[in-house]
Amino acid sequence: MIDIKNVTVEFENKNKVFKAVDDVSLKINKKEIYGIVGFSGAGKSTLVRTINLLQRPTSGEVFIKYRDLVKLSKKELRKERKNIGMIFQHFNLMPSRTILENVLYPLKDSDISKEEKNKRALELLKLVEIEEKKDHYPSELSGGQKQRVAIARALSNNPEILLCDEATSALDPKTTLSILKLLKKVNEELGVTIVLITHEMNVVKEICTGVSIMDKGKIIESGSIIEIFANPQKELTKSFINVANNMDTTIEKIKAHLDPKDFENKKLVKLSYVGESATKGLIVDIYDRFDVKTNILSGNIEFLGDTPFGNLIVINEGKEENIDAAYEYLKAQGTFVEEIYIGG
Ligand SMILES: Nc1ncnc2c1ncn2[C@@H]1O[C@H](COP(=O)(O)OP(=O)(O)OP(=O)(O)O)[C@@H](O)[C@H]1O
Ligand SMILES: [Mg+2]
Repeated sequence: MIDIKNVTVEFENKNKVFKAVDDVSLKINKKEIYGIVGFSGAGKSTLVRTINLLQRPTSGEVFIKYRDLVKLSKKELRKERKNIGMIFQHFNLMPSRTILENVLYPLKDSDISKEEKNKRALELLKLVEIEEKKDHYPSELSGGQKQRVAIARALSNNPEILLCDEATSALDPKTTLSILKLLKKVNEELGVTIVLITHEMNVVKEICTGVSIMDKGKIIESGSIIEIFANPQKELTKSFINVANNMDTTIEKIKAHLDPKDFENKKLVKLSYVGESATKGLIVDIYDRFDVKTNILSGNIEFLGDTPFGNLIVINEGKEENIDAAYEYLKAQGTFVEEIYIGG
């Protein structure tokens, strides 16, 4: 559906060339909800704006359904852009127009009759569950309601792709969740492919199927949501995930109560597992097989889509070579083992 090939975007700043996006390649399949995560300044918005060519790449190609947007004429590009809706952090509604007029606005050059346009706009307002506000003005709506209108507006031309740039960053957690649910509904009912930029792994966890992590203009890691959560490779990815599942705070609290001197023949580790857990069995197993004891300090289970994902912080006690053998055994059973350095 979306195929970004070796895209670089350079900006000139005081005669210095700066790469906001640095040789990024990324494929996003039809009907996927794809997350792009990174800190402020990582280049997320710049990258996503190349998908509808709001930002022209300095080099590289942007294929949408096998057509390179970079090579299209202005007229062709205008047409192609109708296939790509976009929503933003601050909603960008037109304040002097009513909700209905806002949703009608992108249809102004469309060939369909006035009645058809009205019908379409009302259907969309119904889909986003805000039809009762159709004659109100944006200033009369809450943030979450405004984002609903922005989503309806972005869908007015029946796009196959919806780009969401920090669409929930201005909203409280509960409203965020309701907007994410709405995006999921749009994806499922209309088959729209969604690209979602955020700096929160929690947002990604809620609805995305795949995710890329961006840092300094580059994509440093990509994968399915389960691959990335269960087995992140890069430190930055790990830290995004640890923030999302509160692991950072938990580990700090645990460490504060531990004395490194007590850690002879012991290891502090994080065990993560995906899917139905056989962890209880495995903990008994490593005791039986390797004489390694497990003391559970903290545990949580959350859901990635419908898949359970568990994290345990444990202390293992036993002979070093036995502990190592036990970890090899756990890994072979599909548990991810990450040793936590206790300092000292
Ligand atoms: N038009 C521009 N001219 C010059 N520099 C720009 C321009 N647009 C973006 N940049 C720079 O490119 C870098 C990446 O910006 P971008 O907005 O893509 O980051 P981001 O990941 O979306 O950040 P945020 O999370 O804050 O939105 C930043 O350093 C920014 O200052
Ligand atoms: Mg941005």
